[in-house]
Amino acid sequence: MANTATLRLDDKEYHLPIITGPEGEKAIDVGKLRAETGYITFDDGFGNTGSCLSKVTFIDGEKGILRYRGYPIEQLAEHSNFIESTLLVINGELPTVAQRKVFSGLLTTHAPLREGLIRFIQSFPRDSHPMAVLSATMNALGAYYPHLASNNHQNDLEHFEEAAAIAISKVRTIAAHTYRVSNGLPFNYPHPKLNYCENFLHLMFSMPYEEYSAPPEVASALNLFLLLHADHEQNCSTSTVRMVASAGANLFASISAGVNALWGPLHGGANMAVIEMLKSIHADGDDGTRFIAAAKAGKGVRLMGFGHRVYKNYDPRAKIIKASFYKALESLGIKDDPLLNIAMKLEQSVLTDDYFIQRKLYPNVDFYSGLIMRALGIPENMFTVMFAIGRMPGWIAQWREVAANTKLKIYRPRQIYVGSPIRNYVPASER
Ligand code: CMC
Repeated sequence: MANTATLRLDDKEYHLPIITGPEGEKAIDVGKLRAETGYITFDDGFGNTGSCLSKVTFIDGEKGILRYRGYPIEQLAEHSNFIESTLLVINGELPTVAQRKVFSGLLTTHAPLREGLIRFIQSFPRDSHPMAVLSATMNALGAYYPHLASNNHQNDLEHFEEAAAIAISKVRTIAAHTYRVSNGLPFNYPHPKLNYCENFLHLMFSMPYEEYSAPPEVASALNLFLLLHADHEQNCSTSTVRMVASAGANLFASISAGVNALWGPLHGGANMAVIEMLKSIHADGDDGTRFIAAAKAGKGVRLMGFGHRVYKNYDPRAKIIKASFYKALESLGIKDDPLLNIAMKLEQSVLTDDYFIQRKLYPNVDFYSGLIMRALGIPENMFTVMFAIGRMPGWIAQWREVAANTKLKIYRPRQIYVGSPIRNYVPASER
């Protein structure tokens, strides 16, 4: 197979190198295109643009494949758990028992928040969106741990393990404290004997007069939810993390930017948008039929939780989460929920409807994850926060790749300017 692509431009031929990944992914390297031809490429939305070489996650959207560090998501979902998969994602290998123990110790040490950070969270208005609080507080970690956030990649990499443990552990405490503040509830302190997910549920739901004890199916549904979100290659928030990191920014600053990108309804906000959509369908007395018709008519309505930029097949995460969803519902005794009934009707209709089949629109992970979160008692405005807790390992791993790249260039795309041609300044009196 040729290892160059030939480009003919203005009667001249250029030979562009072809890069092939180990899974057969092919790319044309246009790194020298502008210097040699004066042209740039134009790819609105970056659907055809590889922004980096990465070893973290492999996705084949056409076949519905997702692997972290080479391991199929189905195997990790069955045999691993969120913290073990976190170590796999950030370090590249499944941890030994000793490595796992060291990291668990770091998570326990770093679970509580400094008093100043608690006051910081308390200082936000009670009705603040928890994603705004999360982003601000993750960024503030850089102020509390300046030796881990020097904005010198080499220094910051020397303390990487501690910084990663702080981010993974504290994100859950920050999220739960935010929830407690906005509901006027007293803080719970992390419990050193509880595992990651049980601890989160305790931080969220324990009362001074009654310790919350999660049914095992609930803690394991949460564990699976987080594991399935651990990384997803160059999505909007991860690209944002890499973009910010490429300027030399520290881990906490880069992650905080990722939280903001995730907040958008087309990305992490979709799980919350799914529930809002189901509620509005229910409030309209519709069973989903009219809503689907409106979505097909292109009236600015989209079926939230369906479609994906990369998956043109069933999202593999959706398949896995769907099965655990039914188990969690059973253990919680939830049977006849009107929103659930609408969701199932939507799913069935979409999977057999030509409009959706032709456009390869399948349910994505957010379609079920919103429903799971709701069943677990997580308030809607916290859904995207849950996604952020899950995505933390991916952001950290991708930040590390950027920081450790000895040939790093700042990410700086170009543009095609389509604004006004040159014109002369007009004094205010003449406008
Ligand atoms: N409902 C109805 N029609 C849709 C939908 C949808 N959810 N998604 C895409 N389409 C149609 C779209 O109108 C277009 O039709 P046409 O060709 O007739 O103009 C066609 O499908 C292609 O759409 P697109 O906007 O070019 O597709 P995209 O790859 O740019 O968008 C997406 C991907 C995820 C933004 C989009 O499918 C969407 O808005 N889905 C709903 C939001 C959602 O569930 N987001 C969560 C994504 S998974 C979580 C994550 O990984 O971040």
